[in-house]
Amino acid sequence: MAAHAHSLADDLADASRLIARVAGGTSLAALRAAAALRPGVLEILYGALRDYAVGDRLIDALAHRTPPDPAVRALLLAGLRALRSGRPAHAVVSQAVDAAVKLRRSSAKGLVNALLRNYLRDSSALEARVAEHEEARYCHPQWWIDRLRTDYPDAWERILAAGNTHPPMTLRVNARRTSTADYIAMLAAQDIAVRQIGPYAVRLGAPRPVDAVPGFDAGLVSVQDAGAQLAAPLLGAVSGQRVLDACAAPGGKSAHLLELAAVELTALDVDDRRLDRVRTTFARLGLAARLIAGDAAAPESWWDGRLFQHILLDAPCTASGVVRRYPDIKWLRRAEDVAGFADLQARLLAALWRLLEPGGKLLYATCSVFHEENGAVVAGFLERQPDARRVAAPGIEAGQLLPDADHDGFYYALLQKNA
Ligand SMILES: C[S@@+](CC[C@H](N)C(=O)[O-])C[C@H]1O[C@@H](n2cnc3c(N)ncnc32)[C@H](O)[C@@H]1O
Repeated sequence: MAAHAHSLADDLADASRLIARVAGGTSLAALRAAAALRPGVLEILYGALRDYAVGDRLIDALAHRTPPDPAVRALLLAGLRALRSGRPAHAVVSQAVDAAVKLRRSSAKGLVNALLRNYLRDSSALEARVAEHEEARYCHPQWWIDRLRTDYPDAWERILAAGNTHPPMTLRVNARRTSTADYIAMLAAQDIAVRQIGPYAVRLGAPRPVDAVPGFDAGLVSVQDAGAQLAAPLLGAVSGQRVLDACAAPGGKSAHLLELAAVELTALDVDDRRLDRVRTTFARLGLAARLIAGDAAAPESWWDGRLFQHILLDAPCTASGVVRRYPDIKWLRRAEDVAGFADLQARLLAALWRLLEPGGKLLYATCSVFHEENGAVVAGFLERQPDARRVAAPGIEAGQLLPDADHDGFYYALLQKNA
């Protein structure tokens, strides 16, 4: 079937429909799971969400007399994003006007045209004006900026800047199927630029669709951030041991655990549908585990009473360390969510600790950079749990991995139960 060529107006219209959905509370992950999106749409969508605080303020400054309805506002965000990313101005404006028609908002054609032109006429002054607001300058919500400033008096600006970058695409080499050196040689033979950034982590010079990643279908590699790839080696389980991955879906860290050792793995997740993704991943990689849909905070409903030698708790969290991959998070999360996650994390830790064998190890992990979900949760746990101590996690002594060019933000604490 011949591919249908999409115009910029199509991309703007589709991106703005999705921006409106996110503004209404739907997550990017849910949107992406529901439909495959074109690269042109993705670029505008992600860019507009990354810059949301700027676009929103520009619209307020330019349309203060006639605030646009949510659909038109989303189109303006998409149009401003396209202009700010350096696309030819004339084409963007006329295609945005066409997009208004595609969105059945013909009555807003004049507004779209005028607002985008007014932006172009005065862009430097307008940009300077909105940048007076911290939210726009750092492209994060004020509560998030304030929290990072408190948690990291020296590094907060660096963390915010990392959150606004484009994430790297990193592969994890499946140690059961090939070696990192052999896989890199295979890519070199196909002129694909890569850099090794961890024992199994290979960063691609440029992102590409997974079906264009050599060996992906054959299970030679998976897509996984280098920071996430620290979990399985830190836990250090060896073949034959009983291991629980208590929050397993979509299965990235579970798969890595199995690639490194033939452990007897129980992969648990409360979300049955997300467990399907674990099944698909395991089938592609040729791995097997016991998959259970259940609540890690209520083991009596699924646990068979046999203690585990290792437990991975990759806890639900704000995901503040992976915001460059999911820029919607910045705008969907609320300040009060942090305490809610911290509460849940503490409950999960307490419930799972009972399932650990004396002498066994539990790795607590989040993809957050907020202290309240990380160091504070672990400190509270250690105070309440006299048979627990924190042991060295080689390479990540402080526990907190801040996001940088090569990896996302993660937190790890390795906890051991007294023998
Ligand atoms: C950070 S994700 C896990 C990512 C996964 N470890 C990986 O590497 O692919 C957190 C997971 O915890 C699950 N979850 C949330 N609350 C849970 C609970 N009470 N019991 C078990 N799983 C839970 C969510 O459904 C989600 O899949």
